[in-house]
Amino acid sequence: MSLPLHIGFIMDGNGRWAQKRGVPRKMGHEAGAKALEKIIDRCRTLGIKCATFYAFSTENWSRPKEEVDALMSLFDRYINELHRKISSGEADVYKDVRIRFIGDLSVFSEERLERILALEKLTDRQTDGLCVNIAINYGGRNEIVSAVNRFIQENPGVPITEKELSLRLYTDGCPDPDLIIRTAGEMRLSNFLLWQSAYSEYYSSSVYWPDFTPKELDVALDAFSQRTRKFGNVAK
Ligand code: IPE
Ligand code: IPE
Ligand code: MG
Repeated sequence: MSLPLHIGFIMDGNGRWAQKRGVPRKMGHEAGAKALEKIIDRCRTLGIKCATFYAFSTENWSRPKEEVDALMSLFDRYINELHRKISSGEADVYKDVRIRFIGDLSVFSEERLERILALEKLTDRQTDGLCVNIAINYGGRNEIVSAVNRFIQENPGVPITEKELSLRLYTDGCPDPDLIIRTAGEMRLSNFLLWQSAYSEYYSSSVYWPDFTPKELDVALDAFSQRTRKFGNVAK
């Protein structure tokens, strides 16, 4: 079975998961955070090199303040919990896992940034295993514009190339995603990995993210292995 090197996950449907149970939307986000660990573990044991999880988009700030606050508080708790688990060596799940946060992190408080950097630092030597990118305040358009602006600043008057642009994306170091999985039956990108997904295969799973189990991932991987990727060429 051919496995993707890099999988992008659009973790959608937390709100509907909660609604179905008659509980507040934030409970759906809590359940969604719990679902993450088993998926990371499955990616790691399968030997996948990169997994990028879309956790909060540049557009998600438009949600009601109560929900945004609940999500930010959840991130803080999640980051602390990960730090505790990894530094104590309690969970095997994160063995050889490198954690990175991608997106425009400059908007976050110094306190949150410090937590993020501490967690990245804790895992940054584990480069042989799985690289987990957690996308927060991430937008594909924002990522491309900031990459271009950085290039212009460094190389005034020089035309940018595809390679130079790729090198300045948040995902630098990871190959382009071979597969993008979106849950909750939705079939759109919502500003996720716009540049990198030029030739990604898409898979839409009907289950809400909190119900997305390693078994569901295996179904997606099975579907992926049956796709013919042509990259503009004719089928071989
Ligand atoms: C995805 O679940 C999580 C975030 C976007 C933060 P949603 O909150 O979008 O869930 P639905 O789409 O409302 O069900
Ligand atoms: C995309 O989901 C963002 C994340 C999963 C973090 P949304 O639920 O925000 O996307 P739309 O608004 O339905 O396109
Ligand atoms: Mg949604």
